[in-house]
Amino acid sequence: MALLEVDAVTKRFGGLVAVNSVSFKVDTGDILGIIGPNGAGKTTLFALISGFLPIDSGEVRFEGQRINGVPPHHLVRRGLVRSFQIVQTFADMSTLDVVATAALVRRPLREAIDFAAHTLKRVGLGGKELLTPASLSLQDKKLLEVAKCVATEPRFILLDEVMAGLTMAETEAPIAAIRDLHAQGATIVMVEHVMPVIMRLATKMVVINFGEKIAEGTPAEIIEDQRVKDAYFGEHLDA
Ligand SMILES: Nc1ncnc2c1ncn2[C@@H]1O[C@H](COP(=O)(O)OP(=O)(O)OP(=O)(O)O)[C@@H](O)[C@H]1O
Ligand SMILES: [Mg+2]
Repeated sequence: MALLEVDAVTKRFGGLVAVNSVSFKVDTGDILGIIGPNGAGKTTLFALISGFLPIDSGEVRFEGQRINGVPPHHLVRRGLVRSFQIVQTFADMSTLDVVATAALVRRPLREAIDFAAHTLKRVGLGGKELLTPASLSLQDKKLLEVAKCVATEPRFILLDEVMAGLTMAETEAPIAAIRDLHAQGATIVMVEHVMPVIMRLATKMVVINFGEKIAEGTPAEIIEDQRVKDAYFGEHLDA
């Protein structure tokens, strides 16, 4: 049984079909990369899987059980968590507070604080525990987004463009954090535009264009796929 099954999932916003009958499976241990041009429906798909948006039709199953309509905080307890593409910051909270709050999903307060400090070190934010998220660099904000997810001790994690806007050198810290998470047993689905990064991390890929899945396969198969090249006009795939 696949860990996650997305079965003919559709989402409309008025007349726009943002996600159009998309199906794919994720097995335990996969790092699935999802790519597609801007507005393709990737973030909407994540919101549907993680319970942040209602599904119009189709079904999402996690560990064999239908999860349509299950709210995000229940899914987090079951081990399914998402990151946010737009990094959220919280006034008057330190990075430690933010990550400790996430850790409360599975741990009592004192333990949650210790685990949050440990998690911040693990993702490369050691020493920045008392800074406010708003004062962090873009790279560190992205790492904080990863740390918030990691602190919930997920089995399954959806990462939405945690490397967008970073230089290649700056992607090394999040790449290490993702590898670490995977080594700890998490199954990962990541949306990323940065092809060299996806090529290094992904074991499988799914390509979305105008709300539809247009290709899936290994990273090597995907960069050779003509439909994918057409969808991107070649620009992202030359790197
Ligand atoms: N809440 C919403 N209400 C109306 N339309 C929406 C909403 N959210 C997304 N859309 C539209 O749905 C389509 C898919 O958007 P989505 O954010 O899922 O794309 P994406 O693939 O994540 O793009 P990007 O690569 O730019 O992050 C877009 O046309 C977008 O404008
Ligand atoms: Mg998006």
